[in-house]
Amino acid sequence: MKEPDLTDHLVVRPRRLRRTSALRRLVTETRLDPAELVLPIFYREGLVSPKAIPSMLGVVQHTEDSLRVAVNDAAAAGLGGIMLFAVPAERDEQGSGATDPNGALNFAVRTALSEVGDTTVVMADLCLDEFTSHGHCGVLDADGAVDNDATLVRYREMALSLADAGAHIVGTSGMMDGQVGAVRRALDGGGFPDTAILAYAAKYASAFYGPFRDAVDSQLQGDRETYQQNPANRRESALEVALDVAEGADMIMVKPALPYLDVLSDVAATVDVPVAAYQVSGEFAMIEAAAANGWLDRERGINESLLAIKRAGADIILSYFALEFAQARRAD
Ligand code: PBG
Repeated sequence: MKEPDLTDHLVVRPRRLRRTSALRRLVTETRLDPAELVLPIFYREGLVSPKAIPSMLGVVQHTEDSLRVAVNDAAAAGLGGIMLFAVPAERDEQGSGATDPNGALNFAVRTALSEVGDTTVVMADLCLDEFTSHGHCGVLDADGAVDNDATLVRYREMALSLADAGAHIVGTSGMMDGQVGAVRRALDGGGFPDTAILAYAAKYASAFYGPFRDAVDSQLQGDRETYQQNPANRRESALEVALDVAEGADMIMVKPALPYLDVLSDVAATVDVPVAAYQVSGEFAMIEAAAANGWLDRERGINESLLAIKRAGADIILSYFALEFAQARRAD
């Protein structure tokens, strides 16, 4: 008896479109453009030469001079923007440096603007954690708990100083309730109706921020679980995002990115504002560390991780790989 022909029914053969690289290119669903990428940059007050961050290979804390070079490189590579963070020389309970017009972050914003103007988008982190002696994102009450509403007062002041320094976008990353509305009202009332807000809307209390805490010399003892979200929760992000959009967020963010693609996908399907995702320091460090050990192909790992974040729904990706990706793309 003749064997049944097991391939008779195979009319649809998906492999046909994978046969050559030209065919694969033709049917590629997701592409990534440097204009969608934002590079986080660290400036450290009082530094005389750029300082390596041990847990973030190739990333440095910048001096004023190296900051100038870095922002020009970002703009020249066609990046969508930069996100500035600053490490102040001194800290206190209230995070006074955040609202000092000559404070580290305001200085970094002014410096970046003086170099690149409007040729790329200059964003600044609107949060107190780099500036407080206790390392929390807000100010503390008498019992040592993070005081939501007292923190909003500080955020309003910080928004005005960043806007005055010229930031195109402020990134509200502190996860206080009502922060977007408070900042929007402060900006509008202070004569900055055009300063936009990127709301870190769904931001989880994540182990993947570990290397960042090195990057900004974080003073934090303990954790941020009373304000950042529980990694176990998915539906809660819908609430956080809806509140931020209602309060006037111009764009919203999901953070971290790769471990939260389900959240990113949910959010991208529901909002009408641009959606950003932050490939955070720990995501970066995992790829670098594995590549340094020869355990994965670094370039492929970078490309695949960024592509996955875009495929899940991000319009904008913050990534420490942004500049390298853009420069490699230009060289192709
Ligand atoms: C808070 C802030 C953090 C990051 C960005 N903004 C740290 C935190 O929430 O603990 C982390 C970014 C990263 O890990 O790359 N200002």
